[in-house]
Amino acid sequence: MMSYREFAISFARKAGLFLKNRFTEKHEIVYKGEIDIVTEADRMSEEMLVSAIQKKFPHHDILAEESLGTNKGSEYRWLIDPLDGTTNYAHGFPFFCVSIALEKEGEIILGVIYDPMADELYEATSEGGAFLNGKKISVSNTEELSRGLLATGFPYDIRTNPDNNINYFNEMVLKTQAIRRAGSAALDLAYVAAGRFDGFWELQLSPWDTAAGWLLVTEAGGCVTDFDGSNYSFHSRGILASNGKIHDAMKDVIEKTDPLDKRL
Ligand code: IPD
Ligand code: CA
Ligand code: CA
Repeated sequence: MMSYREFAISFARKAGLFLKNRFTEKHEIVYKGEIDIVTEADRMSEEMLVSAIQKKFPHHDILAEESLGTNKGSEYRWLIDPLDGTTNYAHGFPFFCVSIALEKEGEIILGVIYDPMADELYEATSEGGAFLNGKKISVSNTEELSRGLLATGFPYDIRTNPDNNINYFNEMVLKTQAIRRAGSAALDLAYVAAGRFDGFWELQLSPWDTAAGWLLVTEAGGCVTDFDGSNYSFHSRGILASNGKIHDAMKDVIEKTDPLDKRL
């Protein structure tokens, strides 16, 4: 029988290749909020993943971004972002992924992220290490925040919610080598695991954005916490992920900054 890992890898690839094949086509765009969009590709990718899980593991629960979750009382729950980086995808910016995680009794035991444009498959199992295209990966060795390349993102309610990450960004950008806002939180976390980014922080993310990347960073030897340094959970206000070495310095910047954008 196919293992959970093999299943997740196979379907992350299938959904990712589906997204890649439609990438240059004209997309149907529906606005969920002022700047929050969903395309036909998000919905079709999700349908592909959800129906595969329902067929193969009919008793498992599922939490997927574009549809309502199930609540069957299973000890297993799949957390699915069928397309992380929708804004990029809709604009033809080739940085997006499929993110699949499996939780057992509330613990993430498996995380798979596939970037179809780069053909990069990231995977981690609890206590089994993290891998990129089959090769073990680990977080970077950067010791100082001022030498670090960081990533972040902004929430979809940036225009109306004063807790919008702008003050944290303004402080952090003066203290690091550089910051990227690449537009896919799951892939940002995978890049931390692979040692490409030294750290990542963001507010208001959902379980499907962070579950797989959280396990990847942890299994690659990094550190994932809430903004105050406590253990990260899906109820955390923010996520702070790093190589461990610059974690306290990032936390310090966040803790010393007034989060609220006074213009709003
Ligand atoms: C978004 C991306 C983005 C992050 C947003 C997410 P979506 O997910 O991960 O980088 O800044 O907060 O909601 O909507 O493309 O799946
Ligand atoms: Ca997402
Ligand atoms: Ca998404």
